[in-house]
Amino acid sequence: MLCEVSQLPNFLEKKVIVRGWVGHKRKSGKIRFMTLRDGSAVVQLVFSADELSDGEWASFSELKQESSVVISGVVRNEPRAPGGVELLVNSLEIVQIPEQHYPVTHKEHGPDFLLTHRHLWIRSRKQAAILRIRHMVSRAIRSFLDEQGFVETSTPILTPNACEGTTDLFTLPYFDLGDVYLSQSGQLYGEALAMALGKVYTFTPAFRAERSKTRKHLTEFWMMEPEMAWYDRDMTLELIESLIKHIVQMCLDRCESDLHVLERDTSALRNILAPFKRMTYKEALSWLNERGRALNFGDNLGAEDEVLIGESHEVPVFITGYPAKNRAFYMKLDDTDPDVVLDMDLIAPEGFGEIVGGSQREEKLDVLKSRLKDHGLPQKPFEWYFDLRRYGSVPHSGFGLGLERTVAWICGAAHIRECIPFPRMLYRIQP
Ligand code: 4AD
Ligand code: MG
Repeated sequence: MLCEVSQLPNFLEKKVIVRGWVGHKRKSGKIRFMTLRDGSAVVQLVFSADELSDGEWASFSELKQESSVVISGVVRNEPRAPGGVELLVNSLEIVQIPEQHYPVTHKEHGPDFLLTHRHLWIRSRKQAAILRIRHMVSRAIRSFLDEQGFVETSTPILTPNACEGTTDLFTLPYFDLGDVYLSQSGQLYGEALAMALGKVYTFTPAFRAERSKTRKHLTEFWMMEPEMAWYDRDMTLELIESLIKHIVQMCLDRCESDLHVLERDTSALRNILAPFKRMTYKEALSWLNERGRALNFGDNLGAEDEVLIGESHEVPVFITGYPAKNRAFYMKLDDTDPDVVLDMDLIAPEGFGEIVGGSQREEKLDVLKSRLKDHGLPQKPFEWYFDLRRYGSVPHSGFGLGLERTVAWICGAAHIRECIPFPRMLYRIQP
């Protein structure tokens, strides 16, 4: 019976067929061992001359790393092997043997070499584990929001105007209509959709032409953006907190072996099931200044500040109430303190930085228009967006969760480039 490697423990003492790629081989007396990977898991294969034809026995020695093969054998209990089982092989069919040695070996390679070979690097155990966890994070987000009655919808990638500010837009010519931009965020369209459908979310690529060369920045990343009519900032904080807990719980429950492959300290992930820490921007300034920084109201919190905050707390930290002048035009001013907005950033523990950013939206047309002007943005392209305030404007809120940053934190990955199949960064567009 054809079987996926991950299912082998359910077929003890049965004869099965598995298909996959050769890992490493070793000899021990008259026995030969080999690992086989099929995408679902890795299994140890045991070859002995008694079980195979002479031809098959001879062809074993020709197998190189990443040769593709079809194997049949009997599943045996072997607590010392990965997955707790091994396969005693009784037939070996070779599909293809590489002509050259596989470039990504088990020894250490530099990041540049690995990124150039990203199309092959994704086959390695840790990279595949990260990509499976990435899938689980997406599933967790969808299952959580779907359960709560959100509608998944789509917003355009080609857009006529900026959403987050004009400094980091990718521009491209669009027929006779002039320049258009790759979307930085689907939010403005998300707001229109929330007025049509109530509670919505989108899951799209977002593009930022930032010249940031850090372990947290991609020029193309995936963002999940919920937008909710009638939600205020506090309801949104509650929603984000339950969502993040659900994501982490689902990864702990269903990705145990992948987290193990990544040597992730899962106790750090379990800690976040406690209530999240909340501090205002002003409290964050005092907290940071007590620790040797010299920040004034209006200063941006830099990456090092976020790391310091994140490393000093076991749970994620919400920072709310940033200065209005530093924040996007659509964020609602706080009636009790108009110098700040009703926003939130969520800082992951262990120094992984900001994973979520969002706010309550300004629902008053006149305030919105003057905020847009303060930001030096033209009014005309936003006329359609103003309509949302002209026709039945209601309080509403939303946020964006960066998929790769969330995955990097859950996996404990050193760099965001490992958390997307084919990363796009300042100096990297290949493969
Ligand atoms: O904080 P940001 O810029 O917020 C927005 O775009 C809002 N319009 C979202 C909304 O309210 N609907 O981005 C949201 C998240 C960040 O917290 C971060 O996780 C991720 O997107 N992000 C990036 N991830 C990777 N590389 C980059 N260059 C990123 N920029 C933002
Ligand atoms: Mg942000």
